Amino acid sequence: MMIFIDSADSQEIYSLIDSGLISGITTNPKLLTNDNMSHALELYKNTGYKISYQPKTTNPIMFASQISKVFEHKDKLILKIPPCIDCFGYASQFIKKGLDVNVTLVFSVNQAILAGNIGAKYVSVFVGRLEDRGDNPFEIIQDIRKIYDMNNIKTKIIAASIRNVEHAQKSAVAGAHISTISPKIIRELFNHELTEKGIADFAK
Ligand code: E4P
Repeated sequence: MMIFIDSADSQEIYSLIDSGLISGITTNPKLLTNDNMSHALELYKNTGYKISYQPKTTNPIMFASQISKVFEHKDKLILKIPPCIDCFGYASQFIKKGLDVNVTLVFSVNQAILAGNIGAKYVSVFVGRLEDRGDNPFEIIQDIRKIYDMNNIKTKIIAASIRNVEHAQKSAVAGAHISTISPKIIRELFNHELTEKGIADFAK
């Protein structure tokens, strides 16, 4: 399972890129500063990784113009859109012209099936938010993976909204292709008390 970093903090991103662990970068409007798109483009410039970027609007006309702007930077940005019929309508025309799309805020198998049907590159299942309301995010990921594999759908499943190391591990077991994880939790993936004890023992 690949690891993406879920952050817009350049310093954190650089330090983890140096570790060789990171295969991609996701952001959301809350992680980016006010001039969202410029910030995302700057992250691309400094890292060389395409940035998953979500336009910050709910107005359909603004949204359409934002998508066209993202398309102008299709080599640098991956468009994040929620599952909605208008968003899919705008985005699917651009997917055919080569825009990568990450369908975000996915909470059901049906939403993931829809994303697969427009040829989204990624589908982001929000593990923590599902668990918050008592749903089992790992069963949902497992079902999506089964359906994608049975139908030869190329969309990659990103486990998002990862709140702890167990979420990352269980998402991997359930069949997520990728986990997008905050810098803090990526660092915690290294930890195991027996490793720490073993290092101390061998150093004696
Ligand atoms: C993923 O792309 C999102 O940025 C992220 O994981 C959001 O999760 P949260 O807002 O539930 O923490």
